[in-house]
Amino acid sequence: MSARVGAGTTLLLTGIAELTTNDAARGEGHTDPGDALLGIVRDAAVLVSGSGADARIEWVGPAAEAPDADDQRDLGGRAVIPGFVDSHSHLVFAGDRSAEFAARMTGTPYDGGGIAVSVAATRAASDDELRALVAGRVAEMRAQGTTTVEIKSGYGLTLEDELRSLRIARELTPHTTFLGAHVVPREYATRRAAYVDLVTGPMLDAVVADGPTALAESIDVFCEPHSAHAFDGDEARTILEAGRAAGLSLRVHGNQLGHGPGVRLACELGARSVDHCTFLDSADVEALVAARGTTVATLLPGVEFSTRSPYPDARALIDAGVDVALASDCNPGTCYSSSIPFAIALAVREMGMTPAEALHAATAVSARSLGLDRAVAPGQPAELAVLDAPSHLHLAYRAGVPIVRALDL
Ligand code: NIG
Ligand code: FE
Repeated sequence: MSARVGAGTTLLLTGIAELTTNDAARGEGHTDPGDALLGIVRDAAVLVSGSGADARIEWVGPAAEAPDADDQRDLGGRAVIPGFVDSHSHLVFAGDRSAEFAARMTGTPYDGGGIAVSVAATRAASDDELRALVAGRVAEMRAQGTTTVEIKSGYGLTLEDELRSLRIARELTPHTTFLGAHVVPREYATRRAAYVDLVTGPMLDAVVADGPTALAESIDVFCEPHSAHAFDGDEARTILEAGRAAGLSLRVHGNQLGHGPGVRLACELGARSVDHCTFLDSADVEALVAARGTTVATLLPGVEFSTRSPYPDARALIDAGVDVALASDCNPGTCYSSSIPFAIALAVREMGMTPAEALHAATAVSARSLGLDRAVAPGQPAELAVLDAPSHLHLAYRAGVPIVRALDL
């Protein structure tokens, strides 16, 4: 032990067999590409000050060089990683669509029509019912290592129900996204243009009424010409441009059910993320490469699993130079799994990502798509997760086993 570091009460975490820092400077000197990408420190210690949501990292390094602290917690040879950043979820919903999943497993294709079932149940739920459902899902995520979550509206689809969804989501995360343009609700089925006017007019005005980011950080649209319920490229452009003019950052559901304009539109408009990217042609990949540093391709392999769809080729995207993130897309239709470890296992098994790339995608890259940093470095929030295993390789290796949880400080 050497000099004291950090203000207030400090806690030294020791017994860390492997620490993923996502700190590029710590990656230097590693010959293994995975260790370099993750900025791995072995036999590490982390000094933390404060507690709960205020906990901050004060010092990171080899345990042999650790500073003094008020308290110490020995993690017993476990691996520590940055908490997962789930940058795509739809947690504000009520109702049950398990029968739709069962039907898909015997061949019924997904077309977005089932969203109306969730919309009806969500509108019928009380505020307290919805609040309890969302809080339960966030707790379920935390128990699996997720410390930061983005939550979309999109099962209200009236002005009041979209605002209510965003308010409830905001009680649990600052990373909320207005998805009034999830689908055209049934009552507007023959008046699509009127619904786009509602989203881009009164709904958007109400979302930003107390300031551009008071209720929502971003706007999203389900851009999908292959679904009769979703929005085509022109409609999506109108919605995204309105959201951008109102001061929101942009996210897009693109190229989920087939080839289409979503990915190129997201890149052209400087969206932070385009999500799904299941069906890509060479022009889409070129657009994503050109948008590197601005637009992340967020892959959601739980959706391909739960809809029996082909997986996107993450290997080809990474090799081409695309920024690839991973998220859950936890929602009642296409993927009712809140598990990032499950997404990581699928990414490694089915999409050609290395375990290190998958972990990096679900932390550092996913964080970037929300405008955040997710390095384990002094000054950062102490949002960490711990594995009942000695290395991050176990996340995919021990698929389905609950070995990772957010670290309570
Ligand atoms: O990301 N594709 C659009 N939205 C969700 C599914 C919503 C639902 O079916 O309830 C998704 O896959
Ligand atoms: Fe989604």
